[in-house]
Amino acid sequence: MPTLQQALAQAVAAHEPRISAEVMLARVLGRERSYLYAHPESELTAEQGAQWRQWLDRRAAGGPLQHILGGQEFYGRRFSVGPDVLIPRPETELIVEAALERIPYDQPARIADIGTGSGCIAVTLALERPRAHVIATDVSLAALTRARDNAKTLGANVEFYATDLLAGIAGPFDLVVSNPPYLAESELPDLAPEVRDHEPHVALVAGPEGDEIYRRLIPAARERLRPGGWLILELGYASAQPVRGLLNPAAWRQIEIRRDHQGWDRVLQAQAN
Ligand SMILES: C[S@@+](CC[C@H](N)C(=O)[O-])C[C@H]1O[C@@H](n2cnc3c(N)ncnc32)[C@H](O)[C@@H]1O
Repeated sequence: MPTLQQALAQAVAAHEPRISAEVMLARVLGRERSYLYAHPESELTAEQGAQWRQWLDRRAAGGPLQHILGGQEFYGRRFSVGPDVLIPRPETELIVEAALERIPYDQPARIADIGTGSGCIAVTLALERPRAHVIATDVSLAALTRARDNAKTLGANVEFYATDLLAGIAGPFDLVVSNPPYLAESELPDLAPEVRDHEPHVALVAGPEGDEIYRRLIPAARERLRPGGWLILELGYASAQPVRGLLNPAAWRQIEIRRDHQGWDRVLQAQAN
């Protein structure tokens, strides 16, 4: 069996970034990463060697590291993920930040998260705003199972519904948030294989044009927001102006678009009239 040093060299030669190779190897051993530096000559057991080989093969086939490790950090908490949900992205934390700015810590509020996936937004808001009543929806039953598990593990009180957007759900809400699918079908082939072949298409693609969910979600949210309540949406690439155009000026005010750390328009906020 290879030594730890050899195992790492093997991974790096297979184009695995050093940092993720170390994280995976430490997980195989059930140790901290520092152990790899302290014991470079220590050998993997046969069982560990088999596990290591299998993980390297999965990575070579484009499998996301988060699927192998089974989780992803989001807003300082670990969410379980798998092929049934989108892996939470760092830019989605901006949705959470914008939402938290709208709801003071000790204010009771009703919040809806549409297309909850792993539950990362809903669970985070429920934990950060303990007096809020948070509901979350998804059309994917597998995603809802994952989200419920995450809520339970993290101790968040969220009501989950299997429904299309907000169908069958009554307002009024103070806040509706969503990171919806926003790609057009034609964009799918151009995605990185790690995303295209390993993340659920229902989480990525909205329809032939890409704006289908925004088109339906904006009026559905407006119907259920109290006057003065906020809609907060994650934006896809170059979608800020088209999505802004979907907001009827008679129904919405204070429309604000915020950029992410890379300078892309990422978060749209609008207040219901
Ligand atoms: C981009 S993912 C976002 C997941 C999670 N909120 C996040 O930010 O990581 C979009 C989610 O919307 C769900 N979805 C797609 N169409 C939907 C619909 N019509 N109604 C409700 N949820 C939908 C997908 O199953 C997926 O979980």
